[in-house]
Formats: sequence, C-alpha cells, structure tokens
Amino acid sequence: MSAFLVAPSILSADFSRLGEEVAAVEKAGADWIHVDVMDGHFVPNLTIGAPVVKSLRPTTQLPLDCHLMISHPSKYIGDFAKAGADYITIHLESESDTAQCIQSIRELGVKPGISLRPGTPFEEIKPFIKDVDLILVMTVEPGFGGQSFMEDQVEKIAKIRAHLNEINHSALIEVDGGVNAETVKHLQEADVLVAGSFVFKNDYKNSIDILKSAKD
Ligand code: DX5
Ligand code: ZN
Repeated sequence: MSAFLVAPSILSADFSRLGEEVAAVEKAGADWIHVDVMDGHFVPNLTIGAPVVKSLRPTTQLPLDCHLMISHPSKYIGDFAKAGADYITIHLESESDTAQCIQSIRELGVKPGISLRPGTPFEEIKPFIKDVDLILVMTVEPGFGGQSFMEDQVEKIAKIRAHLNEINHSALIEVDGGVNAETVKHLQEADVLVAGSFVFKNDYKNSIDILKSAKD
C-alpha cells in the first residue's frame, strides 16, 4: 500500500505570510495544497476566493485542491479554473445543479470533486461518483478548522471504497476535518488526508511525516 497523500489546509496558515506558508509545507513534504473557500452562506464563515488561488498558483508546484463550501458553485467554477485550480470540489448540498457543475469543471480541464456534509448519507452522492476524480468526505461540520473528528463518518468512507471497487473507478477518497496522529488510524481506506491545525500548529515536516507513514 502506498503512503497517504497529505493536503495541508491553508485555513490554519498565517494569512499575512501565505506564500511563505505554502512554500514551507511544500518543502516539508506536502502533496497538495487544500484551499477552503467559504461564502458566509453555505457555511457560517467567510474565507477566500479565486484571486488568492491566482496569487498562489505561481508560488508552488503542488496541485491546488479547492474545496468550495459555497451555495452557488456554478457561478464561480470558471474563476477558479482560470485562477489555476487543479481540483475543484463542490458540495452536493449546494444550490447549483451537481451534474452540471461536474461537467463544467471537467470541460474547463480541471479535475472535479464532490463532497458531502456529515449528515448527508452516502446514497445521495452515489450517482455522481463515476463522474468525479475526487470524493471528499467531511469528518467535521464544514465551516471551521480545529474541530473534533466525527468517528461516525468512517463507515461512509468504507461504503465509498466498496462502491469504487464495484464500479472499477479510480477516483481518490479525501478526508477532511479533525485529522491528526490519533484519528488517522480510522482512515486506512482513504487516499488523501486534509489537515489544517495538525500541520500548521505543529512542526510541519514532523506532522506531514506522521500522517504519510500512517498507512498500513
Ligand atoms: C472545514 C474545512 C477543513 C478544515 C480542516 O470546513 O473544510 O479543511 O480547515 O481543519 P482541521 O484539520 O483543523 O480540522
Ligand atoms: Zn476543506
């Protein structure tokens, strides 16, 4: 089994030095950069938009993994694609048409991802899995960094893995929320681990190494 891919979430970085923070996690072995986009409507918090992705694009070689926690992703997909996003993940619970969003992301040459809130059952994303490159499982309620991992979401990861095997589809499973040295033991069936506070509040290299090497 290969190592986990680790995607530090810049939500927990020092925004006054964002370019340096991204360079530091890249040097420390990060595989992707996770960008949490919040609109103050889909979630009760506001963060950043496509201009920040555009500024970061020339500063790193790593894939920019944009997680859109916004009510109307269809309006912004073009902006994120143009800004240089490598993955654009939308939420099933948004007000945009999921199939159409996935198709437009693909047509813009970006890899589409789908995500679901902890309260949304696996069955609701099942019809879209064959069309995406990434399935992002939330293990906290989206909106804030630093929350506790919800162990009851682990079963959902297993169901997604079983379905991917069944349809012989190689999309990646990404887990987001409360991932750390302890909770990673529940995540053997994942491929990509998002970690905000665990990376940025500790030694970057040490935390990334711990997560990467936690795969059996
Ligand atoms: C939550 C975000 C996460 C969050 C993860 O809405 O999607 O990416 O920043 O942060 P930690 O790892 O601190 O739970
Ligand atoms: Zn996220």
